[in-house]
Amino acid sequence: MIVPVILSGGSGTRLWPLSRKNRPKQFLALVGDATLFQQTVQRTGKLGNTSAPIVVCSEDHRFTVAEQLQELGVAGSAILLEPAARNTAPAIALAAMHAVQKDPDAVLLVLPADHLIGDETSFVEAVKRAAPLATQDWLVTFGIRPEAPETGFGYIKRAEAVSDSGFKVAQFVEKPNAETAAKYIESGDFDWNSGMFLFKASRYLEELQKYSPRIHAATAKVFASAQPDLDFVRFDKTTMAEVPDDSIDYAVMEKTDSAAVVPVSCRWSDIGSWSALWDAADKDPNGNATDGDVITLDTRNTLVRTHDRHMVATIGLDDVVIVTTPDATLVATRDKVQGVKKIVDNLGNAG
Ligand code: GDD
Ligand code: MG
Repeated sequence: MIVPVILSGGSGTRLWPLSRKNRPKQFLALVGDATLFQQTVQRTGKLGNTSAPIVVCSEDHRFTVAEQLQELGVAGSAILLEPAARNTAPAIALAAMHAVQKDPDAVLLVLPADHLIGDETSFVEAVKRAAPLATQDWLVTFGIRPEAPETGFGYIKRAEAVSDSGFKVAQFVEKPNAETAAKYIESGDFDWNSGMFLFKASRYLEELQKYSPRIHAATAKVFASAQPDLDFVRFDKTTMAEVPDDSIDYAVMEKTDSAAVVPVSCRWSDIGSWSALWDAADKDPNGNATDGDVITLDTRNTLVRTHDRHMVATIGLDDVVIVTTPDATLVATRDKVQGVKKIVDNLGNAG
């Protein structure tokens, strides 16, 4: 049985002003009617042999998660509430400890809650192809063909084939610098790490213990403090604060000898910016992606997103992003939208 683990702890600041601390991007309907979190949960339903998901999120988002699961009619999930965010290595460890308690052979499908997948059939096929590798004790990642020397991703070099569709990982490099990323892209030997993983819960915990024993020990202490409360599971805050902050990529995937990669071409985006959302969105013949009450005249390759009963009209614009909300409006050129992060940092808590 595959147990989906939905990582839902991110803050998604690069999609300000829509994405906010109390409602980060995974809980927004950015493309289509369902939120990214809901689309992620629904996608796992297409695999056939999955259990209800384990969701790992901040305590602050517990009602949003419960409400969004309820809207989907999903029952029986476990919602693990982190009193503090300590990054993905501990978040996945908590889910793994929870899963092995119920089923020592549980296979986890770890999915970030904030990714967009255009072609769900390819995704489902890739997970099915990866399943035998996970039962053979591989830690499987899903590799995406890289498009540009992005520095925000992990890079994976393939070694020999270990099944008809999977390869041993020769090298896993999390977030290389721009120069190295450019070299990797040029070599043609590297895939991007999609941040989605499939492995036995027990196997992940073994490798975490081997390569990052402090994280393993500290997370085990947190898990021992678990207090179930209906679908929620709460943990002790002080104990959680002692867990080293690290991602699965640095803590395990860069170090393990058991990493395998299954390539997937599923039109994947982690929607790291408004420009990435424009890339992934449906567009009109002029290349405009609009949402809400929007009129565009002599406008091209522009993203306009407005809120209830607030009309936005544009004339003579190219390559612009406009996002309005009741209390803030963003206007930026499409190639400069990464600057949003600076604005949010300056806003501090007001963001
Ligand atoms: N519950 C929980 N707790 N979730 C978390 C936490 C945490 O402390 N930290 C991050 N997450 C969630 C985020 O919400 C996101 O869905 C996912 O885990 C990955 O975290 P990011 O912070 O978005 O990672 P990243 O984008 O910098 O890098 C990862 O993803 C890339 C692909 O998008 C790495 O796996 C890269 O190697 C990969 O290329
Ligand atoms: Mg991310």
